[in-house]
Amino acid sequence: MKILFVTSEFADFAKAGGLADVAAALPRALRAQGVDARVLLPGFQKVIDELDVLTLVGTLPRRAGIGPCLLGEAKTRDGLPLYVVLDPSLYQREGNAYAGPDGQDWPDNDLRFARLSLAAEQIADGKAGLAWKPDLVHANDWPTGLAPAFLKWENSTVPSIMTVHNLAYQGLFPEDRRGQLGIPDEAFTLDGVEFYGQISLVKAGLSYADHITAVSPTYAREITEPEHGAGLEGLIAGKAREGGLTGILNGLGGDWDPRHDPHLAQPFDAQDTAGKAVMKERVRTSLCLAPAEGPLFGVVSRLVHQKGMDLVAEVASAIVERGGQIAILGVGDAETEDRLREAVRYNRDHVAMLNGFNEPMAHRIMAASDFYLTPSRFEPCGLSQMHAQRYGALPVAHATGGLVDTITDGETGFLFPDFSVESFLSAIDRAFAVHADPPALERMRAAAMRRSFDWADSAEEYIKLYARLTGKPLLRLA
Ligand code: ADP
Ligand code: GLC
Repeated sequence: MKILFVTSEFADFAKAGGLADVAAALPRALRAQGVDARVLLPGFQKVIDELDVLTLVGTLPRRAGIGPCLLGEAKTRDGLPLYVVLDPSLYQREGNAYAGPDGQDWPDNDLRFARLSLAAEQIADGKAGLAWKPDLVHANDWPTGLAPAFLKWENSTVPSIMTVHNLAYQGLFPEDRRGQLGIPDEAFTLDGVEFYGQISLVKAGLSYADHITAVSPTYAREITEPEHGAGLEGLIAGKAREGGLTGILNGLGGDWDPRHDPHLAQPFDAQDTAGKAVMKERVRTSLCLAPAEGPLFGVVSRLVHQKGMDLVAEVASAIVERGGQIAILGVGDAETEDRLREAVRYNRDHVAMLNGFNEPMAHRIMAASDFYLTPSRFEPCGLSQMHAQRYGALPVAHATGGLVDTITDGETGFLFPDFSVESFLSAIDRAFAVHADPPALERMRAAAMRRSFDWADSAEEYIKLYARLTGKPLLRLA
């Protein structure tokens, strides 16, 4: 079985959030089970810089205002095949996948990601000059939403899946861009890509994919309802009624293992957590936190509205009054960062924030923390709470989305029902009570560290779905 996995992020080269982790892990997990999964991604500067060898293998023809360009082929060092869309005018810029160094989204993001999506259709339909053709195209979030649409508009026989990682990002663009993007007039309707007078790229994916998946079973249910459906709940609920929606939980990356983690001064496991105590002291010192007996609460997150960091700012003083400390690592929007900075100012010596994207530090904070604060307003899946459990940091989490599916309340963490300071604090108090009872803490920590979040299990679910949609049994890789 051959799968083309289309993505705007890929953790090996350029990580923004969880989508990058999934795009790097799932295709590898699929290959481990005999699926010929290959990744299609834009030729960002960082991608080109990191690849040892990049071979030109085809050309991608024009469609409307989406210009022609070259297609490259490469392999990661561990042998995962990549197809790279080579259009320097669209992709070789300073900044991240979506925005310039000033944090502003690129004004031509519609064209940039339409080019990526069109490449998927052209490869699938044999228009790119490649010998390899996928049996199914797997699109992810709004940047690849036009891939299922182009396949349908070109009457392709290749089926597609659209995975929703985060419906809050919709890819909305002015309707006068239709011509440029090659969107047929008859598709600019309620059943197509139109969303309140604009073009919605995520809607394109949801409308035209043969199947929708969401990154956890709970989130799959939530996006059929107004609170989390972002105005698309009717469309998604309709697909769900026809059996066209599945929730498949993400897994935990192999680089997150406290027994073999190069970022930790002393490895540890569920039987011997001495290394965890060592890491706690190290992290406390490196963040200039005062010596203390109380628990350490960690946060490693994008600092944005979704993640509920305003609640962390609001409970910070209460945690400190109870004898706890907080270590925060993250980058995000100015407003959220400012609120957290204020909490740090009020609680000097006991609340610290490292502003930046820092993978080694992310690992160290997970290892050092007794508890992990994750009060997300909504959370499609969430990877951090899995990392936290694997590293023995018990999550204190809002009962929403994937947090519900990956944390067992009272066994591997603490779930709070309402997005409010009171609800959050009552869960934090339960955490303090467990901290004061070492055998209980030990028990929960061991249960959290042993909990399995295996990518192989998720891959198996996707394979069942691929088989159903393609009518093809799994063929082993030669
Ligand atoms: P989201 O994709 O919504 O940001 P996830 O929990 O799915 O949330 O994934 C976030 C990923 O990004 C995790 O791998 C997490 O460790 C990582 N991450 C987030 N912020 C930082 C940071 N400041 N430094 C290092 N890693 C980070
Ligand atoms: C999104 C979601 C996050 C999820 C990730 C990977 O970024 O916010 O919850 O874990 O995608 O699917």
